[in-house]
Amino acid sequence: MPAIVIVGAQWGDEGKGKATDLIGDDVDYVVRYQGGNNAGHTVVIGAESYALHLLPAGVLSSKATPVIGNGVVIDPAVLIEEIDGLESRGVSCDRLLISANAHLIMPYHIALDKVTERYLGSSRIGTTGRGIGPTYSDKAARVGIRMQDLLDPGILCQKLELVLREKNQVLTKVYNRRGIDAKATAKEYLAHFERLQRYVADTGLVLSKALDQGEVVLLEGAQATQLDVDHGTYPFVTSSSPTAGGACAGSGVGPTRITKVIGVVKAYTTRVGAGPFPTELTGEQGQWLRKTGMEYGVTTGRPRRTGWFDAVIARYATRVNGITDYFLSKLDVLSGLERVPVCVAYDVNGTRHDEIPMTQTDFHHAVPVYEYLDGWREDISAAREFGDLPPNAQAYVRSLEDMIGAPLCGIGVGPRRDQTLRLRPLA
Ligand code: IMP
Repeated sequence: MPAIVIVGAQWGDEGKGKATDLIGDDVDYVVRYQGGNNAGHTVVIGAESYALHLLPAGVLSSKATPVIGNGVVIDPAVLIEEIDGLESRGVSCDRLLISANAHLIMPYHIALDKVTERYLGSSRIGTTGRGIGPTYSDKAARVGIRMQDLLDPGILCQKLELVLREKNQVLTKVYNRRGIDAKATAKEYLAHFERLQRYVADTGLVLSKALDQGEVVLLEGAQATQLDVDHGTYPFVTSSSPTAGGACAGSGVGPTRITKVIGVVKAYTTRVGAGPFPTELTGEQGQWLRKTGMEYGVTTGRPRRTGWFDAVIARYATRVNGITDYFLSKLDVLSGLERVPVCVAYDVNGTRHDEIPMTQTDFHHAVPVYEYLDGWREDISAAREFGDLPPNAQAYVRSLEDMIGAPLCGIGVGPRRDQTLRLRPLA
């Protein structure tokens, strides 16, 4: 039985939480496979709104077991706060499982994320400042601290002493910051572990057994295709692999178990942080999109950059992730426009590009080539079936489908759980 991947097709904040939550009732496990508390999902259920950063949206489902996979980086204090926050609102986190192999975000990672960004000046990435990049760097450099290291205080102290010998030199001598004490850090993290130990498991094995028994596993990507360290707008990316390929490495589920890849794409485009964004609108229209779509970061509160739908980006996401179905979010935000511009190609120094240019330099110079589709004036937030949409909105949706190269399985017409049109079964 299937493992299904859900992945953002743009620069993040496409509404993956809502799409995941919708599928959540039909699945047995919902797994985060990369990223950390740089992510932010808002899930609205009835009058309640939940902002999730580390926990998979499955935590809100009555049936699914939420899993934090080995590819995720965890700040334990943030995770405990999130669990406490949910439990105080009556949401049980009892079924949560955390991979013993997940790496921990340490205080020096957060300190280094902030000082290196400052050091980069105008070349800064615009990170969330949560220590994500330095934690993944240490993982690749084989000096990371993993959840399972907290099971053995002796090993933890040894590893911390070793790694801090180098980190403290950098923090104090390069960046003129205070050094970090290994013993105090070990004590703090061991105290966190007292709360978290009950959730720690061999999650790869659990998921494999579940799949053998015919259960459905949903692998939930954070961030998105264009923020992927390999396939995104490097260096303006996050330090992990949100693309569907990363779902296997970050969860321990083998590639042949994946049967479906659902891409989530917003009816326009947004981005936080620095980096190229060809369809960006910096004037009044951009502000209108930001205000109407309420485009402010769930994690940092930063205003998001906004722009028109970019079909080149979405087609690329279809290819890189092997997307089989799309969930189109926030279609309601576009209501009221006379014509809706859609970017179908780029002009780079007089040459038309139907695909993302090979080099970053060309991508920085990409000027969108727009097609203009007829808009609709009606409020569509009460639509519940495709046929409820005005004819021009239906035509807009069908045109996007053709341009992005995969069919839609659902459309979001508002933030609430029920404000969704189901076009095809999701699981
Ligand atoms: P980092 O992941 O904090 O290292 O940030 C790297 C880049 O990814 C920055 O441009 C961030 O704004 C962006 N980013 C990280 N997480 C998210 C997310 O969940 N949504 C949108 N952008 C994100």
